[in-house]
Amino acid sequence: MPNENKKSELAEKFDIYYDKFKIYRDKVLILNNDSLEKTIAVALSLCFVCAVLVSFAAVALRPIQVHNKALDMKKNILDVAGLLDEGVDIDAAFSEKIEAKIVDMSTGEYVEGIDVAAYDQRKAAKDPAQSVKIPTAKDRASIKKKAKFAKVYLVKSGGAIQSIILPVHGYGLWSTMYGFLSLEADGQTVQSINFYDQAETPGLGGEVVNPNWRALWKGKKVYAESGEPTLGLIKGVVNNSKPGSEFQVDGLAGATITSTGVTNLVRYWMSNEGFAPYLNKVRTDG
Ligand SMILES: Cc1cc2nc3c(=O)[nH]c(=O)nc-3n(C[C@H](O)[C@H](O)[C@H](O)COP(=O)(O)O)c2cc1C
Repeated sequence: MPNENKKSELAEKFDIYYDKFKIYRDKVLILNNDSLEKTIAVALSLCFVCAVLVSFAAVALRPIQVHNKALDMKKNILDVAGLLDEGVDIDAAFSEKIEAKIVDMSTGEYVEGIDVAAYDQRKAAKDPAQSVKIPTAKDRASIKKKAKFAKVYLVKSGGAIQSIILPVHGYGLWSTMYGFLSLEADGQTVQSINFYDQAETPGLGGEVVNPNWRALWKGKKVYAESGEPTLGLIKGVVNNSKPGSEFQVDGLAGATITSTGVTNLVRYWMSNEGFAPYLNKVRTDG
């Protein structure tokens, strides 16, 4: 009953506004086409109609945008895990093969009681309550702040970890490059890297997304015997027969600054400031 009342109230209001609109429309229509009043009225009406259409599109398309954004992130994670097969159902593959976890960056421990699916590490890094400032001397990746908690992804098989997928980011020449680094269960051997959000110059620094360059990372090692993150880009092409080449990846031609940015962000996120405490725990606890 109250719903029906509300409906008839709405219908009444609509009728009142529609009658007013008709009076206004008739007044405008009888005006001379060349008159200033008619020109302004037509322009304003057009603006109003366009504003309604744009607002409607923005509101109606929002859920689709949110879903597509989440889907794209899942695709990137499957890709860096080497699980993005042709024609795969992204949602199904992700929920079947990938386990997301929240890690406390100060201890490397898993954190319970947080809605993992809803947690957005990038948003958290911008929120003073959920982030910490990085002292300039330690800010190798030039990111100023980092979230207290990170969202990592695991691929498991028969209960054993196959891949540890870590979110990484850092500044290149023009942009902060956001990506994922995938490691084997030893927390030392690289499976893959990808950058899903960056604005370096296409053909120069933008080559960070080139599949041929990305393939060079497979099998490279992160930590030297001293425990120091040593993996990085060199100027030119790596001679794979030389000792130490396991820590080296080809630099991006004509993009030394982006290359240095990639080295810096990898070393930062693999250091004690980043995921080293977490990787130590994974190595000992599994
Ligand atoms: C239009 C333009 C775009 C550039 N984009 C990049 C870039 O994305 N990344 C980068 O490291 N250098 C870029 N550079 C080159 C840098 O300015 C700088 O010269 C270069 O990093 C030095 O690298 P090199 O020693 O390999 O020549 C760009 C230069 C120009 C003129």
